[in-house]
Amino acid sequence: MSDLAIIKDGALAVRDGRIVAVGTSAELLAEYRSENVIEAGGRVVMPGFVDPHTHLVWAGDRAGEFEQRLAGATYMEIMAAGGGIMSTVRATRAAPLEGLLAQSRARLDTMLAHGTTTAEVKTGYGLELAAELKQLEAIYLLDATHPMDLVPTFLGAHAVPAEYQGRAGDYVDLVLVMLPIMRKMHRSAAGDRPFFCDVFCEDGAFDLAQSRRVLEAAKPLGLGLKIHVDEFKPLGGTRLAVELGAISADHIVCTPPDEIELLARSDTIAVGLPGTPFGLGHHEYTPARDIIGAGGALALASDLNPGTCWCESMQLIIALACRYMGMTPAEAIVASTLNGACAVGLGQETGSLEAGKWADLIILNVDDYRHLGYRFGSNLVGTVIKRGTVVAG
Ligand code: NIG
Ligand code: FE
Repeated sequence: MSDLAIIKDGALAVRDGRIVAVGTSAELLAEYRSENVIEAGGRVVMPGFVDPHTHLVWAGDRAGEFEQRLAGATYMEIMAAGGGIMSTVRATRAAPLEGLLAQSRARLDTMLAHGTTTAEVKTGYGLELAAELKQLEAIYLLDATHPMDLVPTFLGAHAVPAEYQGRAGDYVDLVLVMLPIMRKMHRSAAGDRPFFCDVFCEDGAFDLAQSRRVLEAAKPLGLGLKIHVDEFKPLGGTRLAVELGAISADHIVCTPPDEIELLARSDTIAVGLPGTPFGLGHHEYTPARDIIGAGGALALASDLNPGTCWCESMQLIIALACRYMGMTPAEAIVASTLNGACAVGLGQETGSLEAGKWADLIILNVDDYRHLGYRFGSNLVGTVIKRGTVVAG
């Protein structure tokens, strides 16, 4: 007796939140009985999106900076003048936990309605122990109370906070002090579920040596490694990601060809974030064809954040990836599901419709998967099923 069967040309049987069988409708209907059958009626049934790079938990907005950028200021100029990430840090530090939860939960609801069933979420708007812990606590509370599964990442090295201006090295010392405390909190809240450490390796944020210090301290503590690299200036971060065995290297916009080669030959997954250049009005995107052509694994993510890319929809990310990264809809869908799951250490649990995995699926309102990519600006997801339960639509 299964809890749920999804019927199209094929069918899935689900029990206790996991897929127990995949086959033809005839086979499964012969073998499984269910009170709860969803007829997909020819529509596309596919895995829920796994968004492996978000900055979901923040307070406030930066609409004013958007106007400044439209008038010609650059993202890093605004950051150097004390705005940018620091502006969100001030708002996030000041926000009570309840307020932070409410604002972030609203974004999670939007993500879920657009088909995202699992997401990575970074800290990085605290940049001091208490506020980083508050962000991490928010991630666990949201994970526990929202249908989506959330994977936390400690991004203490997101920016050098105002009180450490000109003393980036001293701030890195503080990040190294925070690391074991974050890990302890993760252990008590989430046991051995995946936990990552990330660094924004960029001119004006953390240089290569500082990024290395943070990641080399995180690795022996058992945290998986992620790194923001080559968003604006190539500093050698992709090479570092490969050397340290990072699970992913994210952005990869202006990465030199030799580092693309290194990355493609490694187990490190490239994460393209096409919403970010789009959000900034830039014209350079992750060179997906070079990465895939060299044999690399590529995932797509939203980079959801209040500065460069307030976008909850992986459907828009797919549409951008098809146009500006040269990906086919099929490639972009794999990058947004299975490869995204692998980029957060959940490749065995979700990201594809296979027996044994969580029953995380979406039913589109269309009968051709290529409408993902082709169409944009409206929501093509009709029904969202998370661990076997209909949670939206
Ligand atoms: O991935 N580049 C650094 N971090 C984010 C932006 C965060 C922000 O501006 O608040 C990113 O684009
Ligand atoms: Fe980011």
